[in-house]
Amino acid sequence: MKNQYVHGYNEFETTRLNDQASTLNSILHHDSIYRRYSKVLEIGCGVGAQTEILCRNNPDIRLTSIDISAESIKIAEKRCHNLGIGNVEFIQADIFNLPFDKNSFDHVFICFVLEHLTDPVKALLNIKPILKSSGSLTVIEGDHGSAYFHPDSKYAQATIDCLVKLQAMKGGNSLIGRTLYPLLRKTGFSNISVSPRMIYADAGRPEMVDGFTKKTFIAMVEGIKNDAIKEKFIDEKTWKRGISELKESSKDTGTFCYTFFKAVAYK
Ligand SMILES: C[S@@+](CC[C@H](N)C(=O)[O-])C[C@H]1O[C@@H](n2cnc3c(N)ncnc32)[C@H](O)[C@@H]1O
Repeated sequence: MKNQYVHGYNEFETTRLNDQASTLNSILHHDSIYRRYSKVLEIGCGVGAQTEILCRNNPDIRLTSIDISAESIKIAEKRCHNLGIGNVEFIQADIFNLPFDKNSFDHVFICFVLEHLTDPVKALLNIKPILKSSGSLTVIEGDHGSAYFHPDSKYAQATIDCLVKLQAMKGGNSLIGRTLYPLLRKTGFSNISVSPRMIYADAGRPEMVDGFTKKTFIAMVEGIKNDAIKEKFIDEKTWKRGISELKESSKDTGTFCYTFFKAVAYK
């Protein structure tokens, strides 16, 4: 599984996940608020970037955070320990083989994970039994087809298309955001509500340009350069031109837009 994760496990990706989480905090999480003392499971916690936010926003929940990567779990655990966050326990586990009893959790939270899975339907079906009968689920995913920018550039778009193709080749779907409603319907969840969370960055919002356009999105695309060239999706010269033109969107004369999708549904 580890090789299938398109962004890899390294310091660069750890920093990117942290930048992403802190920049998007208020947009994605102003409503990630759970009942006092409720039992919440976070699946695919990675290095704990969303875990920290969940715990800070909900100091009275009992959170269990899991990830398939033992290395990421170790980093997440250390991070929360250093921050004095005490209401979370970490377990290495696979979403396709969850080590929990039926009806264990009031809420399950999953963020930027389904897009990497070969079988998101099976993953969602696996979550249902461990939710209590009144339990609910939050799923947050991006959709790389929602990226558009100024100045427009077919070379910049070609670098993004490489990421979409590479993720598909590894069995994932980076266009999954738009499919959350049908996915949740198909897997029998009820009262589904999906809200698009649009990101817009221009020079008047320097924190979004730095935190999102540069350090989250362009960093993510740049991270797959070697794989994209190795798979012959693009040649090096076109890649360089594409990245350079994508970077124009983060300059004072540029703009960048992207949409995340947040779904909440019930068992
Ligand atoms: C893009 S990262 C997101 C991490 C975190 N949710 C965040 O937003 O910062 C995706 C995470 O899903 C984890 N993952 C992938 N497949 C998994 C599986 N089958 N079971 C549990 N976790 C998985 C990866 O190890 C990785 O840490």
